[in-house]
Amino acid sequence: MNVQIAVLPGDGIGPEVTTEALRVLAAIARKFGHTFDCVSLPMGGNAIDSHGTPLPDETLAVCRKSAAILLGAVGGPKWDDPNAKTRPEAGLLKIRKELGLFANLRPIAPSPHLIGASPLKPEIVSGTDILFVRELTGGLYFGESGRRPHPSGEEAYSTMTYNTHEVERVVRIAAEAARKRRKKLTMVDKANVLEASRLWRSVSANLVKKEFPDLQYDVVLVDSMAMHLISRPRDFDVVVTENMFGDILTDEGSMITGSMGLLPSASLGTPGPGLYEPIHGSAPDIAGKGIANPLATILALAMLLRHSLELETEAALIEKAVDKVLADGWRTKDIAAGGPSIGTVEMGQKVLDALAT
Ligand code: IPM
Ligand code: MN
Repeated sequence: MNVQIAVLPGDGIGPEVTTEALRVLAAIARKFGHTFDCVSLPMGGNAIDSHGTPLPDETLAVCRKSAAILLGAVGGPKWDDPNAKTRPEAGLLKIRKELGLFANLRPIAPSPHLIGASPLKPEIVSGTDILFVRELTGGLYFGESGRRPHPSGEEAYSTMTYNTHEVERVVRIAAEAARKRRKKLTMVDKANVLEASRLWRSVSANLVKKEFPDLQYDVVLVDSMAMHLISRPRDFDVVVTENMFGDILTDEGSMITGSMGLLPSASLGTPGPGLYEPIHGSAPDIAGKGIANPLATILALAMLLRHSLELETEAALIEKAVDKVLADGWRTKDIAAGGPSIGTVEMGQKVLDALAT
Protein backbone atom coordinates (compact mmCIF):
# COMPACT_ATOMS: atom_id res chain seq x y z
CA MET A 1 0.00 0.00 0.00
CA ASN A 2 1.21 3.48 -0.87
CA VAL A 3 -0.90 6.30 0.54
CA GLN A 4 -0.63 9.85 1.83
CA ILE A 5 -1.49 10.62 5.45
CA ALA A 6 -2.00 14.19 6.61
CA VAL A 7 -0.55 14.80 10.07
CA LEU A 8 -1.71 17.74 12.16
CA PRO A 9 0.43 17.68 15.31
CA GLY A 10 -1.28 20.79 16.72
CA ASP A 11 -0.40 22.44 20.03
CA GLY A 12 0.73 21.59 23.55
CA ILE A 13 1.50 17.89 23.89
CA GLY A 14 0.11 17.27 20.37
CA PRO A 15 3.53 17.25 18.63
CA GLU A 16 5.07 14.99 21.31
CA VAL A 17 2.37 12.34 21.11
CA THR A 18 2.08 12.38 17.31
CA THR A 19 5.85 11.91 17.00
CA GLU A 20 5.52 8.61 18.89
CA ALA A 21 2.55 7.51 16.77
CA LEU A 22 4.55 8.24 13.61
CA ARG A 23 7.43 6.12 14.88
CA VAL A 24 4.95 3.28 15.30
CA LEU A 25 3.58 3.91 11.80
CA ALA A 26 7.09 3.77 10.35
CA ALA A 27 7.67 0.42 12.06
CA ILE A 28 4.40 -0.93 10.63
CA ALA A 29 5.39 0.31 7.17
CA ARG A 30 8.72 -1.53 7.39
CA LYS A 31 7.18 -4.70 8.73
CA PHE A 32 4.43 -4.96 6.10
CA GLY A 33 6.12 -3.25 3.15
CA HIS A 34 3.76 -0.26 2.99
CA THR A 35 4.67 3.27 2.04
CA PHE A 36 2.94 5.94 4.11
CA ASP A 37 3.69 9.40 2.85
CA CYS A 38 3.16 11.53 5.98
CA VAL A 39 2.70 15.26 5.40
CA SER A 40 2.87 17.43 8.52
CA LEU A 41 0.70 20.56 8.39
CA PRO A 42 -0.08 23.57 10.59
CA MET A 43 -3.41 23.61 12.39
CA GLY A 44 -4.70 25.08 15.65
CA GLY A 45 -2.90 27.72 17.70
CA ASN A 46 0.37 27.24 15.84
CA ALA A 47 -1.45 27.97 12.58
CA ILE A 48 -2.98 31.13 14.07
CA ASP A 49 0.58 32.26 14.84
CA SER A 50 2.03 31.33 11.46
CA HIS A 51 -0.95 31.90 9.12
CA GLY A 52 -3.41 34.02 11.09
CA THR A 53 -6.03 31.26 10.92
CA PRO A 54 -6.39 27.92 12.76
CA LEU A 55 -7.09 25.97 9.57
CA PRO A 56 -5.11 27.35 6.61
CA ASP A 57 -6.59 26.61 3.15
CA GLU A 58 -3.46 24.68 2.22
CA THR A 59 -3.88 22.39 5.26
CA LEU A 60 -7.50 21.69 4.37
CA ALA A 61 -6.62 21.07 0.71
CA VAL A 62 -3.90 18.54 1.59
CA CYS A 63 -6.25 16.83 4.09
CA ARG A 64 -8.92 16.45 1.41
CA LYS A 65 -6.44 14.70 -0.89
CA SER A 66 -5.08 12.38 1.80
CA ALA A 67 -6.26 8.88 2.62
CA ALA A 68 -6.60 9.78 6.31
CA ILE A 69 -5.72 12.45 8.86
CA LEU A 70 -3.93 12.04 12.18
CA LEU A 71 -4.39 14.88 14.65
CA GLY A 72 -2.59 15.52 17.95
CA ALA A 73 -4.45 18.19 19.91
CA VAL A 74 -5.18 21.88 19.53
CA GLY A 75 -5.49 24.85 21.85
CA GLY A 76 -3.74 26.43 24.80
CA PRO A 77 -3.76 29.46 27.11
CA LYS A 78 -1.87 31.54 24.56
CA TRP A 79 -4.94 31.55 22.30
CA ASP A 80 -7.61 31.59 25.00
CA ASP A 81 -8.49 35.30 24.94
CA PRO A 82 -12.31 35.38 24.66
CA ASN A 83 -12.03 38.55 22.55
CA ALA A 84 -9.60 37.03 20.08
CA LYS A 85 -10.61 37.12 16.42
CA THR A 86 -10.31 33.37 16.13
CA ARG A 87 -9.55 30.35 18.30
CA PRO A 88 -7.74 27.03 17.70
CA GLU A 89 -11.00 25.13 18.34
CA ALA A 90 -12.58 26.89 15.36
CA GLY A 91 -10.10 25.04 13.15
CA LEU A 92 -11.22 21.72 14.55
CA LEU A 93 -14.90 22.51 14.04
CA LYS A 94 -14.19 23.73 10.51
CA ILE A 95 -12.29 20.62 9.44
CA ARG A 96 -15.09 18.41 10.83
CA LYS A 97 -17.70 20.37 8.91
CA GLU A 98 -15.73 20.79 5.68
CA LEU A 99 -14.91 17.10 5.47
CA GLY A 100 -18.42 16.03 6.51
CA LEU A 101 -17.15 14.03 9.48
CA PHE A 102 -20.54 13.56 11.09
CA ALA A 103 -19.87 10.41 13.11
CA ASN A 104 -17.39 10.45 15.97
CA LEU A 105 -16.54 6.99 17.27
CA ARG A 106 -15.24 6.95 20.83
CA PRO A 107 -14.66 3.47 22.24
CA ILE A 108 -14.49 3.19 26.01
CA ALA A 109 -13.13 -0.13 27.20
CA PRO A 110 -10.79 -0.14 30.18
CA SER A 111 -7.68 -2.26 29.83
CA PRO A 112 -7.85 -5.21 32.23
CA HIS A 113 -4.32 -4.21 33.32
CA LEU A 114 -5.47 -0.77 34.39
CA ILE A 115 -8.67 -1.40 36.27
CA GLY A 116 -7.10 0.22 39.34
CA ALA A 117 -6.45 3.47 37.43
CA SER A 118 -10.12 4.43 37.40
CA PRO A 119 -11.49 6.47 40.28
CA LEU A 120 -14.50 4.13 40.13
CA LYS A 121 -14.62 0.81 41.94
CA PRO A 122 -13.06 -2.10 40.00
CA GLU A 123 -16.25 -4.15 40.27
CA ILE A 124 -18.13 -1.38 38.49
CA VAL A 125 -15.71 -0.71 35.62
CA SER A 126 -14.33 -4.16 34.84
CA GLY A 127 -15.80 -5.66 31.71
CA THR A 128 -17.09 -2.33 30.37
CA ASP A 129 -17.01 -2.10 26.58
CA ILE A 130 -18.92 0.85 25.18
CA LEU A 131 -18.74 2.42 21.75
CA PHE A 132 -19.98 6.00 21.80
CA VAL A 133 -21.11 7.38 18.47
CA ARG A 134 -21.30 11.14 18.82
CA GLU A 135 -22.95 13.26 16.10
CA LEU A 136 -20.24 15.74 15.14
CA THR A 137 -21.39 18.29 12.59
CA GLY A 138 -24.72 19.54 13.90
CA GLY A 139 -26.57 20.69 16.99
CA LEU A 140 -25.52 23.56 19.22
CA TYR A 141 -22.01 23.57 17.80
CA PHE A 142 -23.19 24.63 14.37
CA GLY A 143 -26.69 26.05 14.87
CA GLU A 144 -27.63 29.67 14.50
CA SER A 145 -26.02 31.71 17.25
CA GLY A 146 -25.41 35.32 18.05
CA ARG A 147 -25.87 38.26 20.36
CA ARG A 148 -28.38 41.05 20.53
CA PRO A 149 -28.96 44.01 22.77
CA HIS A 150 -30.97 43.45 25.92
CA PRO A 151 -32.24 45.96 28.53
CA SER A 152 -29.90 44.35 31.08
CA GLY A 153 -26.94 44.51 28.69
CA GLU A 154 -26.84 41.78 26.11
CA GLU A 155 -28.57 38.57 25.17
CA ALA A 156 -26.80 35.58 23.60
CA TYR A 157 -28.30 32.54 21.92
CA SER A 158 -27.16 29.20 20.50
CA THR A 159 -29.66 26.93 18.81
CA MET A 160 -29.87 23.16 18.47
CA THR A 161 -31.06 22.22 15.02
CA TYR A 162 -31.22 18.75 13.47
CA ASN A 163 -32.99 17.36 10.43
CA THR A 164 -34.16 13.84 9.61
CA HIS A 165 -31.20 13.13 7.34
CA GLU A 166 -28.62 14.18 9.94
CA VAL A 167 -30.17 11.93 12.57
CA GLU A 168 -30.64 8.96 10.24
CA ARG A 169 -27.10 8.86 8.92
CA VAL A 170 -25.43 8.85 12.32
CA VAL A 171 -27.90 6.43 13.91
CA ARG A 172 -27.33 4.13 10.94
CA ILE A 173 -23.57 4.11 11.57
CA ALA A 174 -24.18 3.35 15.25
CA ALA A 175 -26.66 0.59 14.44
CA GLU A 176 -24.28 -1.00 11.95
CA ALA A 177 -21.56 -0.99 14.61
CA ALA A 178 -23.95 -2.52 17.16
CA ARG A 179 -24.75 -5.30 14.73
CA LYS A 180 -21.07 -6.27 14.69
CA ARG A 181 -20.86 -6.12 18.49
CA ARG A 182 -23.38 -7.19 21.15
CA LYS A 183 -26.41 -5.96 19.17
CA LYS A 184 -27.50 -3.36 21.73
CA LEU A 185 -28.13 0.23 20.77
CA THR A 186 -28.94 3.04 23.20
CA MET A 187 -30.03 6.45 21.96
CA VAL A 188 -29.51 9.32 24.41
CA ASP A 189 -31.57 12.50 24.25
CA LYS A 190 -33.52 15.05 26.28
CA ALA A 191 -36.90 14.46 24.66
CA ASN A 192 -38.76 15.54 27.79
CA VAL A 193 -37.61 19.11 27.11
CA LEU A 194 -36.04 19.64 23.68
CA GLU A 195 -37.86 19.62 20.35
CA ALA A 196 -34.66 18.58 18.56
CA SER A 197 -34.52 15.55 20.86
CA ARG A 198 -38.10 14.65 20.02
CA LEU A 199 -37.10 14.51 16.36
CA TRP A 200 -34.11 12.32 17.26
CA ARG A 201 -36.42 10.02 19.17
CA SER A 202 -38.94 9.44 16.39
CA VAL A 203 -36.47 9.31 13.50
CA SER A 204 -34.17 6.95 15.35
CA ALA A 205 -36.97 4.59 16.45
CA ASN A 206 -38.39 4.42 12.90
CA LEU A 207 -35.02 3.72 11.37
CA VAL A 208 -34.13 0.97 13.82
CA LYS A 209 -37.55 -0.63 13.42
CA LYS A 210 -37.26 -0.63 9.66
CA GLU A 211 -33.58 -1.40 9.05
CA PHE A 212 -32.29 -2.97 12.27
CA PRO A 213 -35.09 -5.04 13.82
CA ASP A 214 -32.47 -7.50 15.09
CA LEU A 215 -31.07 -4.96 17.57
CA GLN A 216 -32.09 -4.47 21.17
CA TYR A 217 -32.89 -0.77 21.17
CA ASP A 218 -33.61 1.60 24.02
CA VAL A 219 -33.67 5.31 24.76
CA VAL A 220 -32.27 7.06 27.84
CA LEU A 221 -32.49 10.71 28.88
CA VAL A 222 -29.10 12.39 29.00
CA ASP A 223 -29.26 13.32 32.68
CA SER A 224 -30.03 9.80 33.66
CA MET A 225 -27.37 8.51 31.25
CA ALA A 226 -24.79 10.61 33.13
CA MET A 227 -25.74 8.57 36.19
CA HIS A 228 -25.99 5.13 34.57
CA LEU A 229 -22.65 5.59 32.85
CA ILE A 230 -20.79 5.48 36.14
CA SER A 231 -23.13 3.22 38.10
CA ARG A 232 -23.66 0.41 35.57
CA PRO A 233 -21.40 1.04 32.54
CA ARG A 234 -21.27 -2.67 31.64
CA ASP A 235 -24.92 -2.58 30.58
CA PHE A 236 -24.20 -0.48 27.49
CA ASP A 237 -22.91 -1.55 24.10
CA VAL A 238 -23.29 1.15 21.42
CA VAL A 239 -24.53 4.58 22.53
CA VAL A 240 -25.56 7.17 19.95
CA THR A 241 -26.27 10.80 20.75
CA GLU A 242 -26.17 14.37 19.51
CA ASN A 243 -23.03 16.54 19.46
CA MET A 244 -23.05 18.33 22.82
CA PHE A 245 -24.41 15.43 24.87
CA GLY A 246 -21.74 13.23 23.29
CA ASP A 247 -19.02 15.72 24.11
CA ILE A 248 -19.95 15.72 27.78
CA LEU A 249 -20.73 12.02 28.20
CA THR A 250 -17.50 10.87 26.59
CA ASP A 251 -15.36 12.99 28.93
CA GLU A 252 -17.31 11.47 31.81
CA GLY A 253 -16.92 8.02 30.26
CA SER A 254 -13.16 8.45 29.95
CA MET A 255 -12.93 8.19 33.72
CA ILE A 256 -14.11 4.59 33.46
CA THR A 257 -10.69 3.86 31.98
CA GLY A 258 -8.93 6.11 34.46
CA SER A 259 -7.18 8.37 32.00
CA MET A 260 -7.98 10.35 28.93
CA GLY A 261 -4.45 9.46 27.87
CA LEU A 262 -5.70 6.11 26.66
CA LEU A 263 -8.71 6.98 24.54
CA PRO A 264 -8.59 7.26 20.77
CA SER A 265 -11.36 8.53 18.52
CA ALA A 266 -12.29 8.37 14.87
CA SER A 267 -14.35 10.94 12.99
CA LEU A 268 -15.91 9.52 9.87
CA GLY A 269 -18.52 10.55 7.38
CA THR A 270 -19.08 11.04 3.75
CA PRO A 271 -16.64 9.14 1.52
CA GLY A 272 -13.25 10.74 1.93
CA PRO A 273 -10.57 10.83 4.60
CA GLY A 274 -11.40 10.11 8.24
CA LEU A 275 -9.84 12.10 11.07
CA TYR A 276 -8.20 10.27 13.97
CA GLU A 277 -7.19 11.81 17.26
CA PRO A 278 -6.76 11.14 20.95
CA ILE A 279 -9.76 12.44 22.90
CA HIS A 280 -7.55 14.30 25.35
CA GLY A 281 -6.72 17.95 24.82
CA SER A 282 -3.40 19.74 24.36
CA ALA A 283 -2.60 19.59 28.13
CA PRO A 284 -0.55 22.83 28.15
CA ASP A 285 0.42 22.23 31.80
CA ILE A 286 2.61 19.28 30.86
CA ALA A 287 3.58 20.27 27.30
CA GLY A 288 7.29 20.06 26.55
CA LYS A 289 8.03 18.04 29.70
CA GLY A 290 8.22 14.71 27.89
CA ILE A 291 5.74 13.05 30.23
CA ALA A 292 2.55 12.97 28.14
CA ASN A 293 0.99 9.59 27.47
CA PRO A 294 1.29 8.78 23.73
CA LEU A 295 -0.92 5.67 23.89
CA ALA A 296 -4.21 7.37 22.95
CA THR A 297 -2.61 8.73 19.77
CA ILE A 298 -0.98 5.39 19.02
CA LEU A 299 -4.40 3.74 19.45
CA ALA A 300 -5.93 6.45 17.22
CA LEU A 301 -3.38 5.41 14.61
CA ALA A 302 -4.62 1.83 14.93
CA MET A 303 -8.17 3.07 14.29
CA LEU A 304 -6.89 4.96 11.23
CA LEU A 305 -5.31 1.82 9.79
CA ARG A 306 -8.51 -0.14 10.44
CA HIS A 307 -11.22 2.28 9.34
CA SER A 308 -9.59 4.33 6.59
CA LEU A 309 -7.02 1.91 5.16
CA GLU A 310 -8.67 -1.41 5.93
CA LEU A 311 -5.44 -2.73 7.43
CA GLU A 312 -7.04 -4.82 10.17
CA THR A 313 -3.98 -7.01 10.82
CA GLU A 314 -1.74 -3.98 11.29
CA ALA A 315 -4.30 -2.24 13.53
CA ALA A 316 -4.77 -5.30 15.73
CA LEU A 317 -1.00 -5.70 16.02
CA ILE A 318 -0.63 -2.17 17.39
CA GLU A 319 -3.45 -2.75 19.87
CA LYS A 320 -1.84 -5.98 20.98
CA ALA A 321 1.51 -4.23 21.45
CA VAL A 322 -0.10 -1.51 23.60
CA ASP A 323 -1.82 -4.20 25.63
CA LYS A 324 1.48 -5.99 26.18
CA VAL A 325 3.22 -2.82 27.32
CA LEU A 326 0.47 -2.23 29.88
CA ALA A 327 0.49 -5.90 30.93
CA ASP A 328 4.24 -5.63 31.49
CA GLY A 329 3.54 -2.79 33.88
CA TRP A 330 4.90 0.21 31.97
CA ARG A 331 3.10 3.42 32.92
CA THR A 332 3.26 7.08 32.06
CA LYS A 333 2.62 9.45 34.95
CA ASP A 334 -1.11 9.86 34.27
CA ILE A 335 -1.79 6.15 34.80
CA ALA A 336 0.95 5.37 37.33
CA ALA A 337 -1.20 6.09 40.40
CA GLY A 338 1.82 7.72 42.07
CA GLY A 339 4.08 4.75 41.28
CA PRO A 340 7.11 4.67 38.97
CA SER A 341 6.57 6.05 35.49
CA ILE A 342 8.31 6.47 32.15
CA GLY A 343 8.23 9.37 29.69
CA THR A 344 6.56 9.91 26.31
CA VAL A 345 9.48 8.74 24.16
CA GLU A 346 10.20 5.74 26.37
CA MET A 347 6.54 4.70 26.21
CA GLY A 348 6.66 5.00 22.41
CA GLN A 349 9.80 2.86 22.44
CA LYS A 350 8.10 0.21 24.60
CA VAL A 351 5.35 -0.10 21.99
CA LEU A 352 7.99 -0.38 19.23
CA ASP A 353 9.78 -3.08 21.21
CA ALA A 354 6.52 -4.98 21.71
CA LEU A 355 5.78 -4.71 17.96
CA ALA A 356 9.16 -6.22 17.18
CA THR A 357 8.60 -9.31 19.34
C1 IPM B 1 -13.68 17.30 21.67
C2 IPM B 1 -13.28 18.67 22.13
C3 IPM B 1 -13.84 19.68 21.14
C4 IPM B 1 -15.35 19.54 21.11
C5 IPM B 1 -13.43 21.14 21.41
C6 IPM B 1 -11.93 21.29 21.53
C7 IPM B 1 -14.00 22.07 20.38
O1 IPM B 1 -13.74 18.93 23.43
O2 IPM B 1 -13.26 16.88 20.58
O3 IPM B 1 -14.41 16.63 22.40
O4 IPM B 1 -16.04 20.12 21.97
O5 IPM B 1 -15.85 18.85 20.24
MN1 MN C 1 -14.75 17.25 24.34
